[in-house]
Order: sequence, then structure tokens, then C-alpha cells
Amino acid sequence: MKVIGISGSPRKDGNTEILVREALKPFYERGWEVTEFFLSSKTIKPCIGCETCIETGKCVIEDDDMELLISELEDCDALIIGSPAYFRNVTAQLKALFDRSFVFKNRKLLAGKPGGAITVGRGEGGGQSLVLLIIHNYYLSEGAICVPCEINGLSARADKPGDILKQENRLRQARVLGENIIRYAEMLLRG
Ligand SMILES: Cc1cc2nc3c(=O)[nH]c(=O)nc-3n(C[C@H](O)[C@H](O)[C@H](O)COP(=O)(O)O)c2cc1C
Repeated sequence: MKVIGISGSPRKDGNTEILVREALKPFYERGWEVTEFFLSSKTIKPCIGCETCIETGKCVIEDDDMELLISELEDCDALIIGSPAYFRNVTAQLKALFDRSFVFKNRKLLAGKPGGAITVGRGEGGGQSLVLLIIHNYYLSEGAICVPCEINGLSARADKPGDILKQENRLRQARVLGENIIRYAEMLLRG
């Protein structure tokens, strides 16, 4: 079984990456194959709106990591997507990934796969709930299944890189999200 953890933060080792890594821990413990696809070190260029992919099923942008991402999504059994709140939205890097998913809209790569959502922002009510909605909306648009954490997706409040490490409850909740996704994946496997 294979899981992919996507972080939309441009900040390496920031709070989002920490929470996504924490949510991936239960997968390692169960012997899943784990792929980290963190946009701090991967490049997904923005869609240019040429719509060539509607005819060809291929994107004209070839000098980035989108092909790699597509093969990872094709192979995965479950996924986790995290993003910091940026202007009460997902980051531009993650939105580019969402838009470029247009290329596989007819292939249903994520249909029936369980997915979890994580967000972190510096503010109380800083738009985290909107970010969760946006990630869940992506899952639903792709036919994926939204898996809850304790309630809804995982929403956290932190600012400087690594601040989240001081919040044991949020780290625990990230692991709960991972465990819940595994439970859904196993249920789906059993049919
Ligand atoms: C351009 C920008 C926009 C931001 N917008 C928000 C926001 O709308 N709400 C919020 O709570 N925090 C906002 N923040 C703060 C980040 O969400 C916060 O620092 C978060 O911990 C960053 O996550 P990271 O460490 O994973 O990069 C913003 C930060 C930046 C750089």
C-alpha cells in the first residue's frame, strides 16, 4: 500500500511539513510505502490555460515535476494534503498543483481514494477552515474520499517554522488523521 503526503508550503521544514510528516508516521509503522511530495523542493508551474490537454491528455509544460506527481498519484492508495493559510487560501504553489490536475480529469486517478487535509495559520480564525474546505473540495472534485481527523481536517495555529513542535496535541491529532486514513483504506480494500 502506498501513501503520498503533499505539502503546499514553500518553506522547508516549516509547520505544514512537520504536521504532514507526523500524519505519515502511522503509515511507516504499518509498512506502507511513503512518498513525500513537498512543494518547498518540487516545482509545479502554473497552468497557462492553453487547454491543449483536453485534446491530447498531456500538458505542454514538461520542465517541472508534474509528470512525477501524476505517476505518484496514479500509484497511491491514499493521500494527505497540507497547506499553510496564505491570504485565507491555499498557497499559490498548491493552487498550481490543483489547476494542473486538469490534465488527468478524465482519468480519475484519485477516485475512491481516502484523503486527509491539514492546515496551519498564524491567526486565530486566520482562514484555516477555508483552507480545509478548499482541500476537501479538491478531493471531492477528483472523486476522492474526505477522511476526518478528530473533527473535520486538522487545523492548527502556528507561525515561525517549527513552532508547531511545541503543540503536542496538534502532533497527536496529525497521527490520528493518519490512522483514520489507514482505517478507511483498509475498509475500502476489504470492499
Ligand atoms: C504570504 C503569506 C500569507 C499569509 N496569510 C495568512 C493568513 O491568511 N492567515 C493566517 O492565519 N496566517 C497567514 N500567514 C501565516 C502562515 O500561515 C504561518 O506562518 C504558517 O505557520 C506557515 O506555515 P509553514 O511554516 O508550513 O510555511 C501568511 C504567511 C504568508 C507568508
